[in-house]
Amino acid sequence: MVRAAILGTGCAVPAKVLSNIDLERMVDTTDEWITTRTGITERRIASPGEYTSTFATKAAERALEMAGVSADEIELIIVATVTPDFPFPATACLVQNNIKASRAVAFDISAACSGFLFGLSLAEKMIMTGTIRKAVVIGAEVLSRVVDWSDRNTCCLFGDGSGAVVVGASEDGNGILSTHIHSDGSYWELLHQPGAGNRNPATQKVVDERLMFIQMQGNEVFKLAVRAMEEAANEALEANGVGLADLDLFIPHQANRRIIDAIGKRLGIHPDKIFVNLHKYGNTSAASIPIALDEANRAGHIHPGNLLLLDSFGGGLTWASALIRW
Ligand code: UT7
Repeated sequence: MVRAAILGTGCAVPAKVLSNIDLERMVDTTDEWITTRTGITERRIASPGEYTSTFATKAAERALEMAGVSADEIELIIVATVTPDFPFPATACLVQNNIKASRAVAFDISAACSGFLFGLSLAEKMIMTGTIRKAVVIGAEVLSRVVDWSDRNTCCLFGDGSGAVVVGASEDGNGILSTHIHSDGSYWELLHQPGAGNRNPATQKVVDERLMFIQMQGNEVFKLAVRAMEEAANEALEANGVGLADLDLFIPHQANRRIIDAIGKRLGIHPDKIFVNLHKYGNTSAASIPIALDEANRAGHIHPGNLLLLDSFGGGLTWASALIRW
């Protein structure tokens, strides 16, 4: 069977930086609290006129350029996002129009922070089965518009941006060795946006009760994240008969430095093999792994033949992994 491989990576983030010091002037918090409890120093925030599709389009263009693939060749565009430009049409359709990928089928996936790996898994399977030859998978968010900027529990955590990959058939046998995707809806309330869907449609009441903003039980999510991401990593390694010593780079979802450190410790991965860029962007949900992958790639941290493990966790709950021979 054909194996799918990542042919190019790209990312795009807003120019506007919001630092912890800036946040000190907005809510009752300190740079010291945010840094020690989360590892985040600053995050990027979309300006008026910038949308999820703005960053998704730029990230896709950069990934296509690196891959040396033209938009005409793309048969599938997936945007993983919980902050689409509109409830419909899909943000992926807006990206399709922007990049002029007229032959592609385009749709969104909602799996919160695991959305990118869910999309990658779907694209992988469609390439393996010969349904399509080339895809663009994008994680993109403008979370700053669903964050309550008066709630110190959540406003310091999130940021905006997008990362993308071009996926196609592997030419050298390397590529995506496995993807595993999981959900547990019994914990849906731990991390959700109560308003602006059809359970609580956009009304004055929703605005007054601030239901259009993200609500999270951080402590509970923290514990479940560590456990699920550890399990996902072990599942990927076991399924492929490889050990931690074989791993060259671990790219976990960037939500909290303490979560990343706890997983690294439990798995026994040397900190040098864990890629972290959380301090610069905060938690960008579906965009976090593809932004990190692109940064690691462009910074020369990934070489042909390297073994990479991508590992995510998010609202839903959802969690996922991808093991990749680069
Ligand atoms: O993307 C996937 C899902 N998301 C995550 O994985 C996030 C998971 N959770 C977390 O990262 C952490 O739970 C948080 C960073 C959200 C919170 O850290 P924590 O160590 O779990 O703190 P906590 O919620 O137990 O709160 C401790 C204290 C509270 O004060 P009291 O009640 O003990 O007096 C909070 O009010 O810290 C307080 N606090 C703050 N203080 C200053 C919460 N946020 C802030 C803040 N500045 N920004």
